[in-house]
Amino acid sequence: MVERHDPAALRRIAAGVMELHWRPDHGYTVPNSQTYPWLWLWDSCFHALIWDALDDERAVTELAAVFRRQSGSGFIPHMANFPPESATAEMWGAAGCSAITQPPMYGHALAVLAAHGRDVERFAEPALLGLRHLFDRRRAPCGLIRSYHPWETGADDSPRFDLGRRPPYSRPRWDSFHYKLVGALDVRDGEAIGSSAFDLCPAGFNALVAWNAREAAAALGDRDLLDDATALAETIDAVLWSEEEATWCDAWPDGTAASSVRVVDALLPALVTPERDRAGRALGLATDPAAFGLPFGPAQVHPAEETYEAEQYWRGPAWPSLTYLLWRAAHQRGLGIEAERLELMLRRGAAASGFAEYWNAASGVGLGAIPQSWACLAIVPDADRTAGASGE
Ligand code: GLC
Repeated sequence: MVERHDPAALRRIAAGVMELHWRPDHGYTVPNSQTYPWLWLWDSCFHALIWDALDDERAVTELAAVFRRQSGSGFIPHMANFPPESATAEMWGAAGCSAITQPPMYGHALAVLAAHGRDVERFAEPALLGLRHLFDRRRAPCGLIRSYHPWETGADDSPRFDLGRRPPYSRPRWDSFHYKLVGALDVRDGEAIGSSAFDLCPAGFNALVAWNAREAAAALGDRDLLDDATALAETIDAVLWSEEEATWCDAWPDGTAASSVRVVDALLPALVTPERDRAGRALGLATDPAAFGLPFGPAQVHPAEETYEAEQYWRGPAWPSLTYLLWRAAHQRGLGIEAERLELMLRRGAAASGFAEYWNAASGVGLGAIPQSWACLAIVPDADRTAGASGE
């Protein structure tokens, strides 16, 4: 196992995984060449951060790919393939991309690349348009941002989205439900504008919209977007925070509570809450061994939940994308102990799992696609420190 004190070894492996998955003809990195041979929105934003940490100009090329299928309205599909293949056409009614979106992680990626002196000027307009699109066209009556498919959140099969579905969980059963939800979308001009079966304001998704908007607004000096991001963060707290359960719930568009199952992505409002105490409490739970904080990363579902399954897709394992985001939250908030724990979990998990898509949070056993590009996020905290130390 690669130990924490050996960042050079982790970096070498990460560089190999990224090189293996890089598609020079199309200018992006696939998450995994067998399981995920196309472009995914939030993955590619994470890849841009990883290329940046590797000090490689492909950081900029990868971010450009995210915007390539953006429509005139600002909408960015969650999945795109180059060249367009018939697989997506059958499913989405359009060749080359999907009709739903994913967390707009390009706000954060742009901010980090800009801070490291990369030329991101050309992303200013598409990023602002993409974020504006979410605020203007996805706003629910309660003020939160709505999602029309669990896949839009990135946390596909989370028990938060069971919403009365009969147990037991099985991947094939949930897959067929999710394909049905694609059929329930109201799609106009290649973009989902509603759904007759799934219309929800998830805590994690809303936190990532608010945070990415704040990151982009700060980097680009956009006052209006900053105000929108601040207002959304306040609404998340006002509508979703549950004091007794110490989590942010999900809500229906009218603001009534939908689910409060304890999942770690529902603690992502720690990135944006104006209440420092709540952020501290949430990140404390994410790292507490008696709560989510298992040795190889926060379990995505709290181990005491009835639905918890240690090795099941989005039902319990640790996900490097989420651990990275929680690390960022702790780091930005100056919560040093939590940040250090999360960084250690991420590095340990990536090393023990063989850079897997996700892993058993208790044992580190790799699960899903192996290797998966986003596991290379494990090198970002160390690179970030080095960039900071060199005064960038
Ligand atoms: C899975 C994950 C999703 C990710 C995709 C590609 O579908 O649930 O979040 O974007 O794989 O890695």
